[in-house]
Amino acid sequence: MADLTIVGCGNLGSALINGLAAAGGHDVTAYDVDEAALERVAPYAARTTTDVETAMASDTVVVAVKPDIVGAVLSEFDLSADQTLVTVAAGVSRNYVAARTDATVVRVMPNLAAETQDMAAAVTWDEVDEDVRVMLADLGSFVEIEEELMDTATALNGSGPAFVFYTIQAMTEGALAEGMDETAAETLAAQTVKGAAETVLRSDRSVDDLIDAVCSPNGTTIEGMEVLWDSQFADAMGAALAAATRRSREMAAERADE
Ligand SMILES: NC(=O)c1ccc[n+]([C@@H]2O[C@H](COP(=O)([O-])OP(=O)(O)OC[C@H]3O[C@@H](n4cnc5c(N)ncnc54)[C@H](OP(=O)(O)O)[C@@H]3O)[C@@H](O)[C@H]2O)c1
Repeated sequence: MADLTIVGCGNLGSALINGLAAAGGHDVTAYDVDEAALERVAPYAARTTTDVETAMASDTVVVAVKPDIVGAVLSEFDLSADQTLVTVAAGVSRNYVAARTDATVVRVMPNLAAETQDMAAAVTWDEVDEDVRVMLADLGSFVEIEEELMDTATALNGSGPAFVFYTIQAMTEGALAEGMDETAAETLAAQTVKGAAETVLRSDRSVDDLIDAVCSPNGTTIEGMEVLWDSQFADAMGAALAAATRRSREMAAERADE
């Protein structure tokens, strides 16, 4: 059974722990300085601890603390060359981490859908680490990218859930304005996004072809699509991605100065 430690059981760390518990087959140690955070994840982890020695015993250690305290955590963890350290922090480079540990460093940009095993993750490694590969596959889907694109991944799949939540909210509000109640509207909007995403992932057809398939001539969808094509929607989404990417680069530059 693959053993790993999650360091920091906040938003992301707890999502990883819950997702791995649902997947099964992982021996997870949860480590945090916050006892309340440990209590929340205790039902989903093999063990919880505030002891660094216990946390350091796993083959794989995932550091899921805020970017500005990654350096402090790494100074407490004395890992060996046969261990793997996974960093998930926005704007923290593999070089920054590798300078502070003997472990093999893998950089991952995950997202909170780890909780439901629907995570989209980007990974950068020198070579495939089998335990990390299994962990990522059990939590959802992952793609391997060059590290220079990690800022883009931070925006796309790290921050992306918020952009999609906002889209769901806009669709819901559109239905509310037409008189539907909020619970029904939100359920239909969210399930529609989930179904459309599944279609894109499973289909060999291009997104343009998929849009065409929903747009029958003189039908309802084409009326709505004409509005979207004439709007700034695509530009706004592009600008949101660019802004988040820029912020990730800024954070990386701040770390590089340390
Ligand atoms: N949230 C996301 O959607 C997301 C997506 C992709 C990547 N990430 C990355 O994941 C990392 C964690 O983000 P988050 O949103 O999960 O942060 P978070 O909710 O603040 O969780 C961090 C946890 O680490 C604990 N902690 C603080 N100092 C510690 C130490 N020295 N040793 C062990 N644990 C310590 C915190 O306790 P206290 O609360 O007591 O400080 C907290 O429970 C960040 O680097 C972020 O860039 C997050």
